[in-house]
Amino acid sequence: MDADLQARFNEQIGLEHASERAYLQMAAWAEAHDYTGAAAWLRSQAQEEAQHALIFIDFVLDRDGEVALTALEAPQGGFDDLVAVFSAALEHEKRVTAAIGELYAAAQESRDYPSLPLLTRFLDEQVEEEASVRTIIGELRMVADDPSALLMLDRELPGRRASTSGTGATA
Ligand SMILES: [Fe+2]
Ligand SMILES: [Fe+2]
Repeated sequence: MDADLQARFNEQIGLEHASERAYLQMAAWAEAHDYTGAAAWLRSQAQEEAQHALIFIDFVLDRDGEVALTALEAPQGGFDDLVAVFSAALEHEKRVTAAIGELYAAAQESRDYPSLPLLTRFLDEQVEEEASVRTIIGELRMVADDPSALLMLDRELPGRRASTSGTGATA
């Protein structure tokens, strides 16, 4: 792949690592506030994001490219409540979706066709992740005034997957 596209893939690796850390920070907040179910869900999301970074790293290497990890900013913390946590997750995922879209456009532009199937899998993954987070936000809003329902919802969260394709590594 050309140098510009390789730089974009390296940025995407950084964004996946930033996602991992964003979810770890959210998980820590949730655990500290006794939302143990949300904490477990968020922590497993963090692991998924670490896996995404590895998939991109392996792809760059398979294409005979050079991996260069970037510096990362501190993730957002200090949330007001669980809705704020998942709203931040949704905003973050939207940024990632946009970034992968840009990467797809750049790959097409430089006629780097081998990148397209991988990026398509990640775009599918983003649709699923955004949808799962949106559902959780909706449910959290429904039970906002009912602590026992909120507790039940929290305890049920670890049983959910953010996406069926997981890392998208199945294909
Ligand atoms: Fe990701
Ligand atoms: Fe994600």
